[in-house]
Amino acid sequence: MMNIIETEELHGPQTYQKFPVVIVRGSRAEVWDDKDNLYIDCMGGYGVAIVGHCNPEVVAAIKGQAERLITCHGSLYNDARAEFLEKLTSCTPKGLDAAFLSNSGAEANEVSIKLAKKFTGKKGIIAMKGAFHGKTAGALSATWSKKYKDPFEPLLQSIKHVEFGSLGELEAAIDDDTGAVLLEPIQGEGGIIMPPPDYLKGVREICDRRGILMMVDEVQTGLGRTGKMWAIENWGVVPDVLTSAKGLAGGVPIGATIARREILHSLKKGEQTSTFGGNPLSCAAGTATLDYIVKNDLPGQAVSKGSFFLEQLRALVGRHRIGREARGLGLMLALEMRVDIQNILLNALKERVLFTYSGRTVVRLLPPLVITEEQIRSVMQVLDKVVSSEEMKQPG
Ligand SMILES: Cc1ncc(COP(=O)(O)O)c(C=O)c1O
Repeated sequence: MMNIIETEELHGPQTYQKFPVVIVRGSRAEVWDDKDNLYIDCMGGYGVAIVGHCNPEVVAAIKGQAERLITCHGSLYNDARAEFLEKLTSCTPKGLDAAFLSNSGAEANEVSIKLAKKFTGKKGIIAMKGAFHGKTAGALSATWSKKYKDPFEPLLQSIKHVEFGSLGELEAAIDDDTGAVLLEPIQGEGGIIMPPPDYLKGVREICDRRGILMMVDEVQTGLGRTGKMWAIENWGVVPDVLTSAKGLAGGVPIGATIARREILHSLKKGEQTSTFGGNPLSCAAGTATLDYIVKNDLPGQAVSKGSFFLEQLRALVGRHRIGREARGLGLMLALEMRVDIQNILLNALKERVLFTYSGRTVVRLLPPLVITEEQIRSVMQVLDKVVSSEEMKQPG
């Protein structure tokens, strides 16, 4: 009998921070391990499982499409792709009416970086300290963490980083060769860092005044998670370019770089293509996912469930001296501790709840938006228990 963990360790890479569990199936906000233990999933595949695991409507769309046509290169037209493009651009902020389809968040951001250069004719991009945009070479250049970047330098030299939240630093960093600003509306990997209240409006104003593109990475924040279809809408701002991925096709790999048509069309024939980009399977899954999000008002659900969850997390911080802060928007939440959270996450796993990291001291919660209030209560009981036991180990 194959030992799954040993086999992955032997034949897989060593690059993932692995949890000692084998997940074999899922439904809504729950997953099961190979011994049939049930877990409430607040990791959500790092935010992928927006519409829940194995959402029946997405499953039906995948099955139907798989029986009809799985692959169709972008050099041919396809019904599932056209339907998805139409649906996607009907859900995007005003004026963002064209999209390049790819296969991941990093790839979607690679296309943003190319678009910025091609449309503006300028090389320079300003990204944010603390940012995460993916790990392919271009996206990695826009990512902040030295730990991810140092072994692979030199990366793109044309990307510089300024403080997230400082309009003054942004303005000062813009020069004649700056084509775009790239930022997450709420920094995910960086620790669920909220922007100051008027910051995103201020970025828009600076971009307009200085004639540069505002490009937002909504790979983690998008698709209803923060209470609006796109997080940037919480601040009433319309960007020039927006990237999406993660949950956009209900868990099937996909990426999308969405922009005004005149911007997207600055990339000419051959300048950006992808063998799998816009494949019928992910497009059919994507259409079913967007339909489900809209029909079931998942953004609205994220608002009500998220405020209940955040209230409970804040109360927990108030009860425990090792708690530092609870924060977030909708169902993009963080519990920051004063201690390393490794034991908390591993003990929660034993209590059958999955969380993930956002740095060494921040528990990140990205549950499916279909999580129930009852499940949130169960999650809170587990958190209380594992935080209490960690607190007992810490010197007073
Ligand atoms: C904001 C953001 N951008 C980009 C990415 C990279 O996406 P992928 O892992 O699909 O390349 C992520 C992944 O976590 C992300 O959170």
